[in-house]
Amino acid sequence: MKVVTLASPGGLDQLRVEQRSAPGDPGPGEIKVRIHASSLNFHDYGVVAGAMPTEDGRIPMSDGAGVVAAVGEGVDEFAVGDSVVSTFFPEWLSGLAEVGDFKTVPGDGVDGYAREEVVRPATCFTRSPKGYSHAEAATLTTAGLTAWRALVVEGGIKPGDSVLVLGTGGVSIFALQIAKRLGATVIATSSSDAKIAKLKALGADHTINYRDEPEWGQKVKQLTDGRGVDHVVEVGGPVTLAQSIDAVRIGGSIVLIGVLTGQGGEIPTVKLMAKQIRLHGVIVGSRKDQQDMVRALETMALKPVIDSRFALEDIADAFRHQEAQKHFGKICLEF
Ligand SMILES: NC(=O)c1ccc[n+]([C@@H]2O[C@H](COP(=O)([O-])OP(=O)(O)OC[C@H]3O[C@@H](n4cnc5c(N)ncnc54)[C@H](OP(=O)(O)O)[C@@H]3O)[C@@H](O)[C@H]2O)c1
Repeated sequence: MKVVTLASPGGLDQLRVEQRSAPGDPGPGEIKVRIHASSLNFHDYGVVAGAMPTEDGRIPMSDGAGVVAAVGEGVDEFAVGDSVVSTFFPEWLSGLAEVGDFKTVPGDGVDGYAREEVVRPATCFTRSPKGYSHAEAATLTTAGLTAWRALVVEGGIKPGDSVLVLGTGGVSIFALQIAKRLGATVIATSSSDAKIAKLKALGADHTINYRDEPEWGQKVKQLTDGRGVDHVVEVGGPVTLAQSIDAVRIGGSIVLIGVLTGQGGEIPTVKLMAKQIRLHGVIVGSRKDQQDMVRALETMALKPVIDSRFALEDIADAFRHQEAQKHFGKICLEF
């Protein structure tokens, strides 16, 4: 089978395509999956670019979707031929957050899904939504579930709410789509007017070019008649958080997800306190959250936005495309 590995110390020129013998039969509680697709996340980029050092020879990519090829003893949740998608935290099955690092995450602490076949415990996968291609399903593991958790699990979004999403990457576009399907008003930002046209086509009610409008927090307040939004899906981090605090309503929710602008910085703590905001850090979600999301997606007529597709061999080009930030939504690998 074909496998991609990453040689230390990382870097896009350290990605190698290799041939390896296929894994054997699944043991008790395991399934064998023929992986057909993966999708790129900012986290995967951090690993392959060497910013998040990992083991020499690591197989990258957290997201994997494909077809069950064999089922081990005692597995009754899946059958041969089922379409499945991997989970981000193989050991966090349900309930409150239990994991605070990436030691068990495929493509980082353990080998990931840039490979044609894998044998793993059945609990490392859920079924894919009916009607989804493998590439579409592969967008759910990280980006889809993070947006779902931010708005539905932690945010408790309801019809009539207002939501702010930042930029046009994978998580933000999912958040826009989920929010619109659930009856919310969405304000979306981007640095690009061409992408803003796409945001509008996707249903964004209001858009802001954050380059032209550096005080976009105030602009969001104006757009909500001075009230502020109920939910912010905060993918930016230190540079954007102060604006997000301006943009959210008193008592609103900011779910802190991203590190696009760095890993630490100043926070206007008095404003945060005075506005009585809930600031909630999240990393993706549990297997149960993913199962709930998969069921919901089947009723929501929601298909992920795929910007572009690359072959497994062209994984470095796929990451170069991501690095250039020209994408809108998800970049996928198909194989
Ligand atoms: N905590 C979690 O569970 C979790 C899960 C997934 C992702 N994340 C994090 O969330 C962030 C987004 O991930 P992703 O995979 O969706 O990334 P991505 O697809 O690579 O998104 C990149 C996009 O972010 C936008 N962006 C960059 N700088 C920005 C800024 N200063 N303000 C607003 N938007 C900005 C740009 O949009 P425009 O080109 O439109 O300006 C860019 O195209 C990353 O930091 C990632 O690590 C966290």
